[in-house]
Amino acid sequence: MKKIIHNGVSVNLAPQTYLPAEDTYLLLNASLATVRAGESVLEIGSGCGIISKILKEKRGARIIASEINPHAARCTRSNGVETIRTDLFKGIKAAFDVIIFNPPYLPTSRDEEIPGWLNYAFDGGDDGRETIDRFLTEAWRHLKENGRVLTIISSLTGIDEVKKRMDEIGYTTSELDSEKHFFERLVVLKGEKVEERVNRNSYTLST
Ligand SMILES: C[S@@+](CC[C@H](N)C(=O)[O-])C[C@H]1O[C@@H](n2cnc3c(N)ncnc32)[C@H](O)[C@@H]1O
Repeated sequence: MKKIIHNGVSVNLAPQTYLPAEDTYLLLNASLATVRAGESVLEIGSGCGIISKILKEKRGARIIASEINPHAARCTRSNGVETIRTDLFKGIKAAFDVIIFNPPYLPTSRDEEIPGWLNYAFDGGDDGRETIDRFLTEAWRHLKENGRVLTIISSLTGIDEVKKRMDEIGYTTSELDSEKHFFERLVVLKGEKVEERVNRNSYTLST
């Protein structure tokens, strides 16, 4: 089995599983800066499991992962992270302090799909936001009060559109980091379920 070493942690890789790339490392650094010792963390779409494994080892996070790709789910498990093979949150009941997702964010037409499970790593549907929109909507009920979602998108995905969606759902949104690449800008977004705003929204709804 192939391995890489990052931050002093050895990580197994596997075929048909997303190879850690610029987006992985940008989101990993933001996660390391955000997750506090002992917090409960769910990583959706863990790929080989690099982010989860490093958060577990370096932050002592109580972490579980979910993956739709069976090869990636097996690889994350081989890296010592409890992993559920499922679509986003299906079958997961718990609420978490932090939920992390490096989603498929590239606009992809049907004739651009790649064969096999790896397509799930890239294919964001026609506008790039199909999976992200579902993720942001479903994550809300899996966050504890004052919990945070961390995600990464590209300028190709439509950064303003994603921020608008987060605002509609109720998140207090900020940009944690960004990086310019050849054909895109990558941006790490944090969405907080701020207690005050949740209470204000439910007050407005009930009056
Ligand atoms: C861009 S890759 C990121 C992998 C890894 N977290 C990283 O940063 O290197 C996106 C991952 O999300 C997974 N994924 C896509 N849609 C999913 C879904 N609906 N439910 C669970 N996992 C999903 C893919 O299989 C893929 O492993």
